[in-house]
Amino acid sequence: MNLIVGVSAGIAIYKVVDLVRKFIKRGDSVKVVMTNHATKFISPELFKEISQNEVMTDIFENEETAAHIKIVDWCDAMIIAPATANIIGKIACGIADDSLSTVAIALNRPLIIAPAMNTHMYLNPAMQNNLKILESRGIKIIEPDSGELACGTSGIGRLPEPDEIILNADEFLKNFRKNSELDGKKIIVTAGGTREPIDPVRFIGNHSSGKMGHAIANALSNRGAEVVLITSSDLEVSKNIRVIKIETAEQMRQKILSEFENSSAVIMSAAVADYRVKNFSEQKIKKFDDNLTLELVKNPDILFELGQLKKNQILIGFAAETQDFERNAREKLIRKNLDMIVANDVTAEGAGFGVDTNIVTLITKDNLKRYPIMKKSEVAELIADYASKTLGTLK
Ligand code: PMT
Repeated sequence: MNLIVGVSAGIAIYKVVDLVRKFIKRGDSVKVVMTNHATKFISPELFKEISQNEVMTDIFENEETAAHIKIVDWCDAMIIAPATANIIGKIACGIADDSLSTVAIALNRPLIIAPAMNTHMYLNPAMQNNLKILESRGIKIIEPDSGELACGTSGIGRLPEPDEIILNADEFLKNFRKNSELDGKKIIVTAGGTREPIDPVRFIGNHSSGKMGHAIANALSNRGAEVVLITSSDLEVSKNIRVIKIETAEQMRQKILSEFENSSAVIMSAAVADYRVKNFSEQKIKKFDDNLTLELVKNPDILFELGQLKKNQILIGFAAETQDFERNAREKLIRKNLDMIVANDVTAEGAGFGVDTNIVTLITKDNLKRYPIMKKSEVAELIADYASKTLGTLK
């Protein structure tokens, strides 16, 4: 594999010398990009010797034109270790003011970031928020270890050992195999909660944040699928994903139907409102009486409709349940003619709406598998595994 190793100025930089050595030893090609501050810790000559490649430190001094684009075109993936709060903040904000940040912004391949810093810096809300932003774009964050830190304190913030970084990177990058079953396949993913308007200022909605669906979209896109994400959420996703914003269930239905015919799969994690207000009020409803009655009418069941239309396509639904969730989910799987349903008990702690984790049971016609609490990005990989395996058998 062709790897860019991005190095910023942390004391853990010494471990990255070994990391590069290990990549080279097992046959990877490595090009190192360093920030100016990083060169104060270690000379670029050392990385040049180990990697047997020129080290990029200052794109403006580089004789080659567009060197930052050429290196990005050459690589299969990029890993930044150690990643300081500064470089993480720059990538989150899209700032490109030195070699490393410019290469990271130009990158259109998988990116892995291994933060290393003092515990207080790592736990700073701005830092944590930046990591969440990066994760939401499909970037892999390798969580730092806890232990003694260079500043003399103890806590989370240590750069993991090179072998652990390699293990994490391999696990993440295995999903980017070229020619995977998902490569080039068009997959529709829905996310977020629909909003059914009552009047110009009010709506009926739900607590879906879009995190689950956006994580699925990222996982599929990372594996080479052509993802169309139909969502009500403003959360960011990987730049390769085509995003269609909607508000109501009917808008979601229209967009799905117009994309469905040439798609290979639909994965519906959106929380679609079952009812909408019958008579939308053009004006804001005034407060007159003590009681206000709104008449609701049923929305179309989009998944049910797709279940009737599907031809050699796979359909994956979600079931948000508060009781008997496995039985209710199985009933939906059969009634809506789905290939798989992801059941989540949305009352369980760490599961369902708004949180970064979920607790799911994957149910097919002849299988049921319960999983422990996991990050939504990990649940997304399980779903991508299933989609990949099943699409492989549909050929
Ligand atoms: O967005 P997050 O904050 O990350 O939260 C994730 C989630 C809890 C929303 C997600 O994990 C989830 O459970 N999504 C499904 C929510 C839901 O609407 O479940 P349901 O049991 O009411 O619907 C069953 C399936 O039919 C769903 O796939 C739904 O998208 C679909 N449906 C529902 C109603 C309708 N009119 N048309 C549909 O297609």
